Amino acid sequence: MKHYKRILVTAALPYANGPVHIGHLAGCYLPADIYVRYQRAQKRDIKFVGGSDEHGVPITIRAMKEGVSPQQIVDKYHAIIKDSFEKMGISFDIYSRTSNAVHHHTSADFFKKLYDAGLFEEKETEQYYDEQAKVFLADRYITGTCPVCGNPNAYGDQCEKCGSALSPEQLISPRSTLSDAVPVKRKTKHWYFPLQNYEEWLKQWVLEDHKEWKNNVYGQCKSWLDSGLQSRAMTRDSSWGVKVPLPDAEGKVLYVWFDAPIGYISATKELTDKWEDYWCKEDTKLVHFIGKDNIVFHCIIFPSMLRAHGNFVLPDNVPANEFLNIEGDKVSTSRNWAVWVHEYVKDFPGCEDVLRYVLCANAPETKDNDFTWKDFQDRNNSELVAIFGNFINRALVLMHKLCGGKVPVFHNDIIDSTDQQLIADIKQAVEKVTRNLEEYRFREALFEVIELSRKGNRYMQEKEPWIKAKKIAEGGEAAERAQKEIDNCLHLSLQLTANLAILINPFLPGTAKKILHMLKVVEKMLDWENAGSLKLLSVGYSLRAPELLFRKIEDSEIAAQIEKLKANAVDKATVAAPPAEDKADTLVLKPEIVYDDFAKLDLRVGTIDAASKVEKADKLLKLEIDLGFEKRTIVSGIALHFKPEEIVGKQVVVVANLAPRKMRGIESNGMILMAEDKAGKLHFVKPEDAIAPGAGVS
Ligand code: MF3
Ligand code: ZN
Repeated sequence: MKHYKRILVTAALPYANGPVHIGHLAGCYLPADIYVRYQRAQKRDIKFVGGSDEHGVPITIRAMKEGVSPQQIVDKYHAIIKDSFEKMGISFDIYSRTSNAVHHHTSADFFKKLYDAGLFEEKETEQYYDEQAKVFLADRYITGTCPVCGNPNAYGDQCEKCGSALSPEQLISPRSTLSDAVPVKRKTKHWYFPLQNYEEWLKQWVLEDHKEWKNNVYGQCKSWLDSGLQSRAMTRDSSWGVKVPLPDAEGKVLYVWFDAPIGYISATKELTDKWEDYWCKEDTKLVHFIGKDNIVFHCIIFPSMLRAHGNFVLPDNVPANEFLNIEGDKVSTSRNWAVWVHEYVKDFPGCEDVLRYVLCANAPETKDNDFTWKDFQDRNNSELVAIFGNFINRALVLMHKLCGGKVPVFHNDIIDSTDQQLIADIKQAVEKVTRNLEEYRFREALFEVIELSRKGNRYMQEKEPWIKAKKIAEGGEAAERAQKEIDNCLHLSLQLTANLAILINPFLPGTAKKILHMLKVVEKMLDWENAGSLKLLSVGYSLRAPELLFRKIEDSEIAAQIEKLKANAVDKATVAAPPAEDKADTLVLKPEIVYDDFAKLDLRVGTIDAASKVEKADKLLKLEIDLGFEKRTIVSGIALHFKPEEIVGKQVVVVANLAPRKMRGIESNGMILMAEDKAGKLHFVKPEDAIAPGAGVS
């Protein structure tokens, strides 16, 4: 194995067009942080860089929709994301952002160097342009009918119904998702990076020299390389991004996937004057932590860019994780099906380590995995509380009770095979945890730590110091022997506790700190070289009273989270109008129906008698509606648009024969119709003049 002098760890720069959810954490930030904390404990020279990815089309679109500038969007989300990471203990040495001047210079210079070396192809092509919104349309912002299956809502890059990969030209009757306009073709010039020129080199570098990469990463690279690489445009027509540093490039910026990874370099520059040590010296180990959707960019495109530029090291490893689903469903930000980190830290203050634990224990390291609130509760209550926390608590409580609050002596003369077994278990666990951490198997490493605490519990169960304590009252030789046995049990249990603090520290740093406090030792003890030592606490040293490391999580807290998830999810059955972000739906008609389909609907005019907010559900209002012949409770997803008091007395059209549905524990009997304008604002659909409630609509 190659010998490295320093390590540079990067974690994918999240797009600053929304907050981060727990899938992001599990995908790359948590594993990166665990790795970094471990390496720091090993006293290795390591830097951990990250930052927000603030360019790209999604940000400009979001800004357009919200009627603010892109800078306002990124300022808002950069702050939220940074704060979420800090609260969760993701210990970046720097968390930067790509709208910084340093980054603009660094990435523009990078581009210029490749340009001057003649490494780009200049091509003029025709691309779709939206004359109303005055922008060239990225593939995702064009919809039309799929030529393969006839789906009227296919995107310019893919039909999500039949899975066909498409180009915008193939769509039948294309529309712009921004303005609804029919896009027109316009000529535009761009600079393409000929990836095919790097194919042979990549085949050697990835497929031959990096057979040790994770299967999911290696496999994806292989299939990209097997199907052949092509030139890829590295510039875009946009006003937001890093300006193309050429005289004839007005209105052109670098493609976001060209500039974003260079953000790792810019961030390192901001962090230290010695940035070149980390980027240019062969004995640097560069490790990119990412999610699986980023593999091609980090294993194929960015390395080719680095190689084309020269002078830079290439990644030694790219440990990418798969995806984390939530309660059996894919995370979807547009449907709001996600557990947001900034909300978690508010809902579970002081439980940051619990989330770190669950996300690591259940990390999608080799395949997609599922997060459920029930599993979150179970892992907390039956692993952290009942095994790990319980062992440490018992050791401290019994030491205070049976050994006068001080670390007891270890009497070598009465050491037995149970003690010896525990000592061997500690050494073995340290080896396994270390090896797993070095090789990016964080789940496995954490499992070994918990296993060791389980062994601690078993050890204590076998030694039963509380039974031996009863013999002390008897006095004499038996009492003396009993005290010695108690001493040995607690001496070893406390040394194990200190070891557990070291081993758990990369995963649950807050917990390690709490243990240090109880043991009254300094942070230096957590140095990895101390792991396995049985002399971490000196005999006679007095320790603090124990405090609980974890609290139980109640059923009611879990039920509340599940309800919150469901209530806040944008659900087509509760909101008549499509969600603001999902505009594509309104551009094309739904499939044709016959009169009988329509006749099944029983639409009635109703009057809103009362309206109130639904607790802990931002989007829901509970409405009492008078239908003339009866009164109904209807829960409606309009709370972001109307205040309860301003809609009382208004008339609405109600789908009166919709099957009842429970939302947030409230039974909703029907649905009200709403119209949504282009800006995403909702409007009531109601009779022009007030009429008696109950009137049919047809
Ligand atoms: N913003 C991208 C995403 O969220 C990741 C960028 S990683 C970088 O998928 F390498 F480009 F920085
Ligand atoms: Zn299709």
